Amino acid sequence: MVERSKILYEDDQHQYIWFGWEAPEEEESLVQSNQVLVMNGNNGYLFDPGGAFIFSEVADEISKYINLDNIRYILATHQDPDVLSSITLWLKATRANLLVSRLWVRFVSHFGFSDPSRLIPIPDRGQQVKLPSGDAILMLPSHFLHSEGNFSFYDTRSRILFSGDIGAAVFPKGERYLMMDNWEKHKGYMEGFHRRYMSNNAALRQWVHMVRQYPVEMIVPQHGAIIPKEHIPAFLGWLEQLQCGTDLLDQFYGMHSNAQHP
Ligand SMILES: [Fe+2]
Ligand SMILES: [Fe+2]
Repeated sequence: MVERSKILYEDDQHQYIWFGWEAPEEEESLVQSNQVLVMNGNNGYLFDPGGAFIFSEVADEISKYINLDNIRYILATHQDPDVLSSITLWLKATRANLLVSRLWVRFVSHFGFSDPSRLIPIPDRGQQVKLPSGDAILMLPSHFLHSEGNFSFYDTRSRILFSGDIGAAVFPKGERYLMMDNWEKHKGYMEGFHRRYMSNNAALRQWVHMVRQYPVEMIVPQHGAIIPKEHIPAFLGWLEQLQCGTDLLDQFYGMHSNAQHP
């Protein structure tokens, strides 16, 4: 069992805080998820707040760091229930607006809220949120990794990249750790997820090429462990050559695949 929250970066004006929700050992029916709060001056920015089921625990933990009224934006990497099914509760608990891919703005209201004025569509090529200190959170395109409208969030001050489902790891029972330090072992916990949930190698290559243009101190995915700077080159190199999703269609269609019935 690792801790529930941890400050990953801190200076006079800026904090980057990780939150890790996990089902109790005996339940384990829900996938573990990470949330992030960036604080700059008095403003808060919450990334991938999580499922409705975990809202009260996550909100309690986040309240230890910030008055919820000071959360300005909620940023969602994509539309999945483990990312956003808590959004109705968060919009009630805060005055924040939600930033989500333009592809999903007309879908996420189905989670149960009726005020579209608090929804801001992110254009496909991304955009940025300016912070009071002059720094910014960049919303970088991550489409098809895995969702069709998908973003990663790069904080220019801490140089930490929140990668959403990219880099997610699923641990065997009791094996979870917060910071990965053994690449070979960790790769094994990421492989199955990426082969099935990521769309294809072409999309991964676009993302890797883009990420290499930024100085990145660590990568925080939405599930699993943080990837520290020294392992980022190995991680990006692995993604760059990974066959996944539509590259492996025959495997996923099994006996119905064209390849087996020419
Ligand atoms: Fe997802
Ligand atoms: Fe996810």
